[in-house]
Amino acid sequence: MAVDATRLDGKVIIITGGAGGIGSATARLMAARGARIAVADIAFEAAQALADELPDAIAVRLDLEDEASIEAMIADTVAHFGRLDVLHNNAALLGPDIARADNDVETMQTALWDRTYAVNVRGTMIACRAALPHLRETRGNIVNTVSNLALQGHMIQAAYSSSKAAVIQMTRAIAASHGIHGIRANAIAPGMTMTRALREAFPPPLRVAVESETLRDTLGAPEDIAEAAAFLASDAARNITGQVLVADGGCASHVPGIAQFRAFFSGEH
Ligand SMILES: NC(=O)c1ccc[n+]([C@@H]2O[C@H](COP(=O)([O-])OP(=O)(O)OC[C@H]3O[C@@H](n4cnc5c(N)ncnc54)[C@H](O)[C@@H]3O)[C@@H](O)[C@H]2O)c1
Repeated sequence: MAVDATRLDGKVIIITGGAGGIGSATARLMAARGARIAVADIAFEAAQALADELPDAIAVRLDLEDEASIEAMIADTVAHFGRLDVLHNNAALLGPDIARADNDVETMQTALWDRTYAVNVRGTMIACRAALPHLRETRGNIVNTVSNLALQGHMIQAAYSSSKAAVIQMTRAIAASHGIHGIRANAIAPGMTMTRALREAFPPPLRVAVESETLRDTLGAPEDIAEAAAFLASDAARNITGQVLVADGGCASHVPGIAQFRAFFSGEH
């Protein structure tokens, strides 16, 4: 019988932001495919509650603004499980207050810009740096979560979107340097994904605007992004590295204005 390369049996996977909307869906899916999970999050109690639900998992206290905490996350995971196969950098600086304050460059608060880059870029870099020696031993891989906002211009979230673009380029740099050691590095770019936090925070008219530019008839769910992450983490993606997998229902794939074109041609297509 053919081996199912999407299985993750025995692989040790760290998921940062593992207690969040997309991170927890990913932890559940990866665990169901056989992975042993380190749920790493600043929200430690939620990380612990999720780890308790999974068959073979630990919770790790992580603050991506604190270098020592990031290095401890890698060291503690390897100490517990004896190896590291995948680092999934999924956490980011998010939340309604952050999103409201992060608009265009002219009104940008320097402190918000610095914090966004500290968590999303510097924190991700430190995690990758600490993980790489262990990934070399297992011929493992890195999956970085970015955003489709990193691929197109928008009038909102200049700090967030440009920080995610930096993570894309970091992903390519790691892939280029470490492919020779058997290590892969890829990014996932979700579009608007209906987590509970987003549903509560995002004004409905703006949600409708994104929906109308989505090529599917629905916005993505956390489970949709989990599928993309689990695929990239698995041996099924063994020939894929240095790539950005856009999982946004086609939102960033087309010429803008499709809602108006749909309306104009309605009935003809
Ligand atoms: N939901 C979307 O629409 C969407 C769209 C594009 C990209 N993304 C990306 O997907 C990823 C997951 O987002 P989500 O929607 O599940 O958000 P979420 O807020 O539900 O989860 C983020 C998690 O990161 C954790 N976190 C935040 N700061 C941290 C820090 N300093 N140290 C450690 N952990 C920290 C939070 O506690 C939370 O559990 C993020 O990288 C986000 O940028 C989400």
